[in-house]
Amino acid sequence: MTGGFGADAIRRCVRGRFGTPLRWLPEVGSTNDVALRWASDAAPEGALVVADHQTAGRGRWGRGWVSAPGQLLQFSLVLHPRVEPSALGLLSIAAGLACADAIEDLTDLPARVKWPNDVVIGGRKVAGILIETLFESGVLKAAVLGMGINIGWTRDDVPPEIAERATSLAIETGRPPPREELLASVLSAVERRYAEVEAAPDLLLAFATQRSDVIGRDVTIRFLDGATLQGRATRLLQRGELEVETEQGRRSVAIAEIEQLR
Ligand code: BTN
Repeated sequence: MTGGFGADAIRRCVRGRFGTPLRWLPEVGSTNDVALRWASDAAPEGALVVADHQTAGRGRWGRGWVSAPGQLLQFSLVLHPRVEPSALGLLSIAAGLACADAIEDLTDLPARVKWPNDVVIGGRKVAGILIETLFESGVLKAAVLGMGINIGWTRDDVPPEIAERATSLAIETGRPPPREELLASVLSAVERRYAEVEAAPDLLLAFATQRSDVIGRDVTIRFLDGATLQGRATRLLQRGELEVETEQGRRSVAIAEIEQLR
């Protein structure tokens, strides 16, 4: 499904500030690496790196991200957030919400966000987000928002190790949108939600709560060190943390993943 996906098609579709300047690459290790290098070399906010295929795509927590030529939308966007580093959790929430909004706008599929920012359809992951930061002399210089959306995979294409947990827009709709159109919609949505991180965080959290696949459900949370926590996910907090009601009381969870949802 490579179609006409390339720099010209992307430039024709992009509507806002995000997406310019653009670097289009048929193949790269990781678009996040290219964007991080570009950011350290003065890339402006909105600069975008898009690749048809990644040979060393990165996921959260040091995991890999599986790519296949022509089948995914994979990009990294350079941002210069004017917020305290402690508010970066909100950027993470904004990115997941924007991706789910754009998918639902273009496909009518009920896309939800599994905290912090996996986008799921019917409980299966369709998109992943990795935000990496660049600090200079202790000051936040840039954040790179990397996003991968599974578009063209059929059930047979999904790698067996993630087959239970993953899906694609093609599997869910049969007629996935062209990648450049989805990219343009996601970028517009990210631009809108990114503005809310600074100007209207309460509004952002209200929309994110509506889109959440997690709030009100029983969860098992896993932390980086392997420790787990069980409870009921009750709400999103000011900086994007998840509040979990446990038998021992309320906990605010910042850096963790949801291992199980019930
Ligand atoms: C995750 O779900 O663990 C995050 C996956 C993020 C994948 C995207 S694809 C574009 C960008 N480049 C990368 O190497 N990773 C992100």
